Amino acid sequence: MTNIRHGKIPDWYNKDSKYEEAINEDSPNSRTTNRTIEKILKKYKVKTVLDLTCGTGSQVFWLLKRGYQVTGSDISRGMLKIAEKKAKKEKINIKFLRGDMRTINVGKFDAAITIFNAIGHLTKAGFEKTMRNIHSNLHDGGIYIFDILNLSYAQDGDNIKKLSYEIIKTLGKTKIRTIQHSIINNEGILISYTTHYEQEDSGKLKTSKNVITLQLYTAKELKAMLVRNGFKVLGQYAIDGSKFSKKKTERIVTVAKK
Ligand SMILES: C[S@@+](CC[C@H](N)C(=O)[O-])C[C@H]1O[C@@H](n2cnc3c(N)ncnc32)[C@H](O)[C@@H]1O
Repeated sequence: MTNIRHGKIPDWYNKDSKYEEAINEDSPNSRTTNRTIEKILKKYKVKTVLDLTCGTGSQVFWLLKRGYQVTGSDISRGMLKIAEKKAKKEKINIKFLRGDMRTINVGKFDAAITIFNAIGHLTKAGFEKTMRNIHSNLHDGGIYIFDILNLSYAQDGDNIKKLSYEIIKTLGKTKIRTIQHSIINNEGILISYTTHYEQEDSGKLKTSKNVITLQLYTAKELKAMLVRNGFKVLGQYAIDGSKFSKKKTERIVTVAKK
């Protein structure tokens, strides 16, 4: 079960983008995350932001509404389609780009972000390539903010069980139930097994399953990688912006400067 290939572009974001949106959209988790990012951007007087893993636009719309100039890009057509639909519905004039965070070249920004464990989809080499690419999309002194599940937390005691969840959401007439449980292998890769159940009114029950892998990191390893790739680490925090704790922090937010 643990010899799963990690690092393939996750096709399920295309296939299952509506579930991702249903889980994530306007959730307390997503609001806490966005508030923390906004606080950091404010602290460093950022005006322009490149979101390289914008998905359905959770950070893009949040930041646009708060006066930032934001460009959103993502590799998944399915996620971008939902983001574009949302922009149209809210009459927000924004162009989304399709591209790979490891290679996309958009311009020069005050800040770049990759949020909600997005870099976990990459191999370690892929993430270092992304760091170098982000470096070239930033102004001198620009900052890079990202989050990732904390390997030290996930490996401690029974914490892996705390990463399991069940979410029930209603989208229009459709009820969606998502159940996920995870294991972690000895390379620090989290393997999550997800089942989505979908039913419209009393119609036929549809089931969809997927396996997602995420490379996790310790805070120390992230720092070493950033320094190796030309960044200075400004700080590491919990997702609510509080002080980072090696064993207690579930998701590490890292802020680095070019
Ligand atoms: C968990 S979602 C997070 C989306 C958004 N930031 C949010 O918080 O809702 C991760 C996103 O990373 C994108 N992604 C994964 N690999 C990528 C790559 N190599 N380049 C660009 N985007 C990628 C996926 O398509 C997906 O939209």
